[in-house]
Amino acid sequence: MSRPKNPHGPSTRAVHGAEREGRPRVADALTTPIVQSSTYWFRDTQEVIAYQEGRHASYEYGRYGNPTSRTAEEKIRILEGGEECLLTASGMSAVTTMLLQLIPENGHLITTSDCYRRTRQFIGTLLPKMGIEATVIDPSDLNQLEAALRDDTSLFFSEAPTNPYLRVLDIQRASELCHVRNALVVIDSTFATPVNLQPLNFGADLVLHSATKYFSGHNDVMAGCLIGRKELIDPIRQLHGVMGAVIDPHAAYLVLRGLKTLALRVERCNQNAQAVANFLEQHGGVETVHYPGLESHPDHENAAKQMSGYGGVVSFEIPGGLEAASKFIDSLRIPYIAPSLGGVESLVEQPTVMSYWDQTPEQRAAYGIRDNLVRYSCGIEDTDDLLTDIKQAL
Ligand SMILES: Cc1ncc(COP(=O)(O)O)c(C=O)c1O
Repeated sequence: MSRPKNPHGPSTRAVHGAEREGRPRVADALTTPIVQSSTYWFRDTQEVIAYQEGRHASYEYGRYGNPTSRTAEEKIRILEGGEECLLTASGMSAVTTMLLQLIPENGHLITTSDCYRRTRQFIGTLLPKMGIEATVIDPSDLNQLEAALRDDTSLFFSEAPTNPYLRVLDIQRASELCHVRNALVVIDSTFATPVNLQPLNFGADLVLHSATKYFSGHNDVMAGCLIGRKELIDPIRQLHGVMGAVIDPHAAYLVLRGLKTLALRVERCNQNAQAVANFLEQHGGVETVHYPGLESHPDHENAAKQMSGYGGVVSFEIPGGLEAASKFIDSLRIPYIAPSLGGVESLVEQPTVMSYWDQTPEQRAAYGIRDNLVRYSCGIEDTDDLLTDIKQAL
């Protein structure tokens, strides 16, 4: 059953979504209370039975749900325009639980060559133990997608934009191709957020986020989520209750609080990243700038068609290799050298040294990770300050 379209803009939805109505009103508190309880009690056996039969709305045990987490799920659902949402303890718990639920033993999925390292690791090392095979395609090559689809393909999993090269596929066309073959489309839209892109509007079946990033927005909490049709989310929620990677109510509260400023923060991050990308492209001292808001980006057309902003992350290559890129990073004064993205602080990392240091140069090359690649995640600092800092570091 689809829900009526929400008439409000992203900021109104981020602030008010699921807050005034739909959650328990406790002591007239304006903010959603943190319900710090691992279990829930029933007045008598009849109430237990009424709960089991759906006649008494309540909670049973913390691994199966919590009122604070539920409010966060509702706010995310409203922001993403979906029917149901599941909040999890991390982005990776959303990835792993979803893949385990949706792909049968000895099944098949399609994924893309540019992808978050740990997702790739789960697909490449854990899923094969269940006989699950993956075909890896170029991030926005629909011919490769069409050729890779098989009768036993359960789903196509892609990030939009991808990590770290910010590739953006044509979600609508990819969904059409997949649906003809009865395969689901799952989009990890962590880098975009619903402020910039709503994959469900283009036919995707599920959207996934590392809510650790823009959703919480302050680099202070781990969380993940999945949004889509109830018939898809419900069985994933069942498995999630078995796997046990549930979010703590306090963490769920931090996600809720962060979400209220999502649209404001994302707009500033978009503005900063576009300015950084424009500056770097015009500056002679950088080799390639990867940002979907640049006309030179291979997927600019797809991005312009689907996105209202291009996100806060810019990747670029510094001439001279590993040491030159490290020297540039060490010369920056504003961003922290740290993995992750999406918080108020700008962060910078060299993927070779950060996420891929345990890999051989050959393995890194196979993943397309170049030694001189820098990933710069813009925070909400003043644009001119970020540009001045980058200029002095170059
Ligand atoms: C695109 C993407 N998806 C998923 C994840 C995993 O999320 P988490 O770190 O919250 O487990 C990350 C983490 O960096 C990511 O960048």
